[in-house]
Amino acid sequence: MREMRAIRVPRFGGPAVLELVHIPVQEPGPGEIRVRVRAAGVNYADLMQREGLYPGGPTPPFIAGFEVAGEIDCLGAGVTQWKVGDRVMALCSGGYAETVIQNARAVFPIPGGLSYREAAAIPCQFLTAYHALITLGGTAPRMTVLIQAAAGGLGTQLVQIAKIRGARVVGTCGSDEKCAFAEGLGCDHTINYRAHDFEAEARGIVEGGFDLIVESVGGQVFDKSLRLLKPRGRMIVLGVASREPRPIPALLLLRNNWTVSGFHLNTYLADRSAMREALDALADWLASGKLRIIQSHTFPLAAAAEAHQAIADRRTTGKVVLDVS
Ligand SMILES: NC(=O)c1ccc[n+]([C@@H]2O[C@H](COP(=O)([O-])OP(=O)(O)OC[C@H]3O[C@@H](n4cnc5c(N)ncnc54)[C@H](OP(=O)(O)O)[C@@H]3O)[C@@H](O)[C@H]2O)c1
Repeated sequence: MREMRAIRVPRFGGPAVLELVHIPVQEPGPGEIRVRVRAAGVNYADLMQREGLYPGGPTPPFIAGFEVAGEIDCLGAGVTQWKVGDRVMALCSGGYAETVIQNARAVFPIPGGLSYREAAAIPCQFLTAYHALITLGGTAPRMTVLIQAAAGGLGTQLVQIAKIRGARVVGTCGSDEKCAFAEGLGCDHTINYRAHDFEAEARGIVEGGFDLIVESVGGQVFDKSLRLLKPRGRMIVLGVASREPRPIPALLLLRNNWTVSGFHLNTYLADRSAMREALDALADWLASGKLRIIQSHTFPLAAAAEAHQAIADRRTTGKVVLDVS
């Protein structure tokens, strides 16, 4: 039986638990395709899954990763919409591997001109940014939008999409270098929230509070963000990078007409028309040069632990991928 390289989580723990293993290459079943992975996206959720902190995440042992770009190398019975060699990107399970099996209906063509590494930055972070800001958040011209961790993989997409929609965008980042990076992407203002009280600074920048806040850090950042909403404003909670989830203060919501919305990409993936809309916008924005895929850090597959450590240490900007060529 043919074997392939993959990165396994044998037990919950720090980056060092990630191990390179050789496992059998699977054959696609009816309605499935096999993708020869060329680049695997590394997401913050991978760190949370590795630590056992991801709600509903897999139980060890499991192959890490859930986002890939590559080409189809085998079709299962009944698959007619794809051919061997098609360049595709997908959300999947077991993505840190040389091949993955996926339902043929759950992969997307790579927009023309993008490399595999750039394409591996799209399924999770672009689609999340699009649907959080537009489908859920209704981002529109002149809205004031605050984006936490604006220089990260998700943050760099959020900033660009909010600007494309005509919003006034304030971004927080963990260093002055990251702030400069986020401003280069279009942020109207940035705040280094590790060096300054971003709540006080943001009040000086946007009088009366924000229409929309996209929050993915938790802890004090969550508390301060909520206080920065204007009456009838909305905060979208996407993640808890600090690992400090906060309770929702119901009476404050009531008094201020605030909305706090959770967002998880999963339910949007099943909505074909919502996905089509996002991918059409992506193709349009890439072609017109309005959107750039910020793929800044590449590690070989075997160095997955270093990739995880770099994200945990807050050393990365934009998207991190594993090279699986
Ligand atoms: N709900 C969904 O469907 C969905 C989808 C994608 C991502 N997310 C969430 O969105 C967030 C960003 O994901 P990503 O994959 O794009 O990662 P990322 O932004 O590239 O990396 C995480 C960033 O979070 C910031 N951060 C703040 N506190 C931190 C801490 N205590 N430890 C480590 N980092 C901290 C860091 O930026 P600074 O140094 O600038 O603070 C770090 O670079 C995560 O919370 C993730 O779970 C949710």
